[in-house]
Amino acid sequence: MKTASDMRSRKERRREKKEKREKKIRSDLERYGKEILDSEEMERAFCQTHHMRSTVGEHSQRVAEKSLALCYALEKLRIRPDIPAVVAASLCHDLGILDRDEKYGSDRECYRKHSSDSIEVARKLVNNLPEKTQDIIGRHMWPTAGSRIPNSLEGAIVSAADKAAAVEDFIRGSRIIPSDLKTTLRTLKERKLGLKWKTKKK
Ligand SMILES: [Fe+2]
Ligand SMILES: [Fe+2]
Repeated sequence: MKTASDMRSRKERRREKKEKREKKIRSDLERYGKEILDSEEMERAFCQTHHMRSTVGEHSQRVAEKSLALCYALEKLRIRPDIPAVVAASLCHDLGILDRDEKYGSDRECYRKHSSDSIEVARKLVNNLPEKTQDIIGRHMWPTAGSRIPNSLEGAIVSAADKAAAVEDFIRGSRIIPSDLKTTLRTLKERKLGLKWKTKKK
């Protein structure tokens, strides 16, 4: 039978593991993504709303963190993903969304075109941006927005992390721009149905 001290030490071990992983993520982001994280584009990304309740900057960080966590899990299986490519691509994958209102005529246009615009921003921020990183960014919307399927392991990692981060953006929202999930759901429903949210009769 497990004692209370067994349970506590298990909890502690789990916490230590989590802290170690978070430290490794911070160090990899700093090592391979510093020029992107310090850029003016990334600064602006933290002011641009994304997924209704988050920002492009926070979303990009979430994608990078999730992608790296996936890479570390694969490394345990002796699969070694290209970490620099994963970091650069995940941080830049949505930077094409910046100034979306001026750049795109509709949400649909933004949805379809931002991947290729993000490659342009990434080229500006990273010297000699590898072809592989460009491919990861260009295909990250797969399987939506008419995107081509990722053609590398790293592309599949970033694409999967992007979807998980999008859900998290919506559920948890932004730490910078506070919003209420109930209000967002109401707005969504109004937009979708073209109707006003029904108020309860007293
Ligand atoms: Fe995207
Ligand atoms: Fe994204």
